[in-house]
Amino acid sequence: MPKVSYDHRAVTIDGRRVLLLSGAIHYPRSTPDMWRLLMERSKEAGLNAIETYVFWNFHERRRGVYDFSDRLDIRRYLQTAHELGLYVILRIGPYICAEINYGGFPVWLRDVPGIQLRTDNEVFLREKEKWVRLFCDYVRPYFAPNGGPIILAQIENEYGNVAWMYGEAGERYLRRVAEMAESLQVGVPWVMCKGSAPGTIETLNAFYAHPLLDDYFAKYPDKPALWTEHWPGWYDLWGYPHNRRTPEDVAYAAARFFAGGGTGMNYYMWHGGTNFDREACYLQTTSYDYDAPLDEYGLPTTKMYHLARLHRILQEYAPVLVESERATPEVLPEGVTAYTYSRDGRTLVFLCNDDEAKAVRVSYEGRRYNLPPKSVTLIAAGTLLMNTAQVEPRYIVEPRMVIADPNLSPFQWWVEPSPSETYTPLHPPVLSDKPVEQLQFTHDETDYCWYVAKLMVLPDQAGAGVLELQAVADVVHVFVDGQFVGTTQPPLIEDRDLDDPESFTQRFQTNLTAGEHTLAILCCALGVIKGDWMLGKHNMVDERKGFWGTLIWRGEPLQVPWRITAGLQGEHGRVYAEGSALVKWESSLEVARGKPLCWWKTEFERPKTDAPLALDLSGMTKGIAWLNGRCIGRYWMAPGTGKPSPWLAPAVYQEGEGQPTQRYYHLPKEWLRDRNLLVLFEEVGGDPTQVRLCYRV
Ligand code: GAL
Repeated sequence: MPKVSYDHRAVTIDGRRVLLLSGAIHYPRSTPDMWRLLMERSKEAGLNAIETYVFWNFHERRRGVYDFSDRLDIRRYLQTAHELGLYVILRIGPYICAEINYGGFPVWLRDVPGIQLRTDNEVFLREKEKWVRLFCDYVRPYFAPNGGPIILAQIENEYGNVAWMYGEAGERYLRRVAEMAESLQVGVPWVMCKGSAPGTIETLNAFYAHPLLDDYFAKYPDKPALWTEHWPGWYDLWGYPHNRRTPEDVAYAAARFFAGGGTGMNYYMWHGGTNFDREACYLQTTSYDYDAPLDEYGLPTTKMYHLARLHRILQEYAPVLVESERATPEVLPEGVTAYTYSRDGRTLVFLCNDDEAKAVRVSYEGRRYNLPPKSVTLIAAGTLLMNTAQVEPRYIVEPRMVIADPNLSPFQWWVEPSPSETYTPLHPPVLSDKPVEQLQFTHDETDYCWYVAKLMVLPDQAGAGVLELQAVADVVHVFVDGQFVGTTQPPLIEDRDLDDPESFTQRFQTNLTAGEHTLAILCCALGVIKGDWMLGKHNMVDERKGFWGTLIWRGEPLQVPWRITAGLQGEHGRVYAEGSALVKWESSLEVARGKPLCWWKTEFERPKTDAPLALDLSGMTKGIAWLNGRCIGRYWMAPGTGKPSPWLAPAVYQEGEGQPTQRYYHLPKEWLRDRNLLVLFEEVGGDPTQVRLCYRV
């Protein structure tokens, strides 16, 4: 059985060094029938490995109840990789970040008494070890020494980003984590990215990893340089423009890394896919396209074809690269750096022009080469194999959405009742003299929580004014006496600070007459945070949703008792599935157009096309969508007006400023039937006559 190890140059399998070209495909972000095709396409594009995180939060949604079915059938995923001859890098975490709900932790962890996450806390370490042991036993046959495809495993994730918060406790934690991993005896090397403990290989995550190599080898002369996250694009946030990265820049960064002596690289993401259901973390869009080489629907992009050319060259010269020592850089008179790898009479040269703006003409071994700005030219035996800045025109793909036939039947509607009426809530309502954050009632089984109070407005407080909610999250819709008053305006801030009240304060302009009013606030969570830094200097357990602060009217705090109700009536009655038959749907579209809190349903026949399907939700505002009872995700047409984080700038550019953040929503083929039920819960108000079924070409 294969023995996996490593030396100072590369990962070794049965003593042979391998060059690892890997791509991340997260199994829950596509459907099982897509996995084989995704992996086949990856292989065709020259990858020899795939990588995935493991999603504890989905495998154990309820404490002690495990799920490995359907999109969570990781054994099927591993088996498929194995059948295709692909290695697997398994990043177990179980903290994974990944733009996924609670960074991969089940939300019930918050309720375990005495817990603090990702630090030297016995309660957390016990829960974590229990899961990791169970999981590793579950996939044990798939580790390489047992004949399976898994050659590397990761424990924890980027602890370096939070270590400063935990000091010595953090160091102890990381050591204990590494010891626990070792004790599992999976038989393959353990890696840790950005921060590590003895016994593991520390790996790199970056847009450009070559500038990190000298320090890496100085610190770890006996270890190979592995790049666990090469970001070929970036994730999108509601209310922000679409993030993109050019194929040329990704190829430059990849080639530059191998030139500098790296021997293993994983694209994060190679296929981003979809955050179905309520699986996205706070503010993360339903699409996780990531501008990755395989698009959200699994189709090849220009980036994939361009990188595939580079991969073929790297694979062809893999023995030359891994069997030589790290090349000594040779700076040419023109300022270009050459890296030469030679072995058994074969040579691969990388000519690197790192200048961002200037093209350079160089003479090298008797030939002349034009090097565009920020590019790597690969040369063998005097033949130019590729320049990373030149995309061949035949590989340019221009994807489009086409309206599918047949079309949707006329929409029907039903209005979500307000919680003060006859209402069967998900959990019994809670009466409290002050607002209480919602996760302790919803346990994150729903995004929604109602906060209802009676207000007595005295004559001197009557008139126009600002209703202020201090300590509220994430999106809220405010109703007074059943009338819609206002909603949270995007963009929201990605990294907030619990100690900065302004981060969690929202204000609504309204008019209140003297007398009694019913104030109803519907709080809508947008996913649970993915890491401590999203709360300021707080542990992830401190995450809060809903309303837990002060209500202020015209500058004066109002002390009122609250009735707090978790979830929607329509969710509880599953009106998006079999419960659809139990409510009385109305057909008069004109009456409901633009109404808040409206459930919409339509039906359609299975489209004839084989192409991937999507829903164009133009005309709608914000809510959740279901296909045949399965949740396809949150939707929000929030315009992309937010300013991107400046640190992305060297690699990432923006597109679609001011446009709806996400217009198209993936409808997986496997969820379709001959006759299909599509249900939307629209929170703010929409016009479904503009909604279309589309396919991607
Ligand atoms: C990394 C993290 C990943 C993912 C990525 C951004 O820092 O390790 O899990 O969150 O950033 O997509």
